[in-house]
Amino acid sequence: MVATGVDAGDFTEAFALLNKLLGGDARFVQAQYEPTKYDFVPTIVGQFDVVSCMAFLIHVPEPLHLLRYIADRARHAVFLWSGFPRDDAMIVRYPKLHQFSNLPFPWSFDAGVAISDSLLIYAMSEIGFPNVVEILPPADGWPPVCGNPLMAPYEPLRGFLFTRSTGVRVTEPQLRGIGRRIRDFGESLVSRI
Ligand SMILES: C[S@@+](CC[C@H](N)C(=O)[O-])C[C@H]1O[C@@H](n2cnc3c(N)ncnc32)[C@H](O)[C@@H]1O
Repeated sequence: MVATGVDAGDFTEAFALLNKLLGGDARFVQAQYEPTKYDFVPTIVGQFDVVSCMAFLIHVPEPLHLLRYIADRARHAVFLWSGFPRDDAMIVRYPKLHQFSNLPFPWSFDAGVAISDSLLIYAMSEIGFPNVVEILPPADGWPPVCGNPLMAPYEPLRGFLFTRSTGVRVTEPQLRGIGRRIRDFGESLVSRI
């Protein structure tokens, strides 16, 4: 397995430590997603079998563009963990501006952005991932409930696994393996398995 983690912060040391402890070979790329460009700088090259994006969709003002970006890089599956309000209406919920950045409007919607679960599932289907399962929290408390006030109204984050309609299907045991690896590494936005 080769896993690649991406974040604007520098997690090089954390990756080195986890690789040592777990015997892995995950690499880390420090990159900033630029909402005006709909791309990471430096850009993320190539495709991956599975792309996971955890607690990051909330930080982008136009989450549908990020979904497209992720889907274009995933060969087989996409795992998303974020705030997805239960709503039959296809809506994007915007919180306050300027929670982290000094970017101008509308890029200043930088935390707590959430799309409804119906819009998420509709959008992912439209961009090639019509199969969806919600990964419910197991008894051991993963994924944790988010008590972050930025996520107002407070809501537990939810995890969804999407797979493509054709090609290799992710099986149940593989799915559990992916979940375990994500939990072990905690920080992987992009994974190649
Ligand atoms: C809520 S944390 C989630 C961290 C990790 N993905 C996890 O699941 O534990 C949000 C992460 O998004 C990163 N982040 C926020 N804005 C970003 C941007 N524009 N580009 C890249 N990373 C960003 C932050 O550095 C932070 O590590």
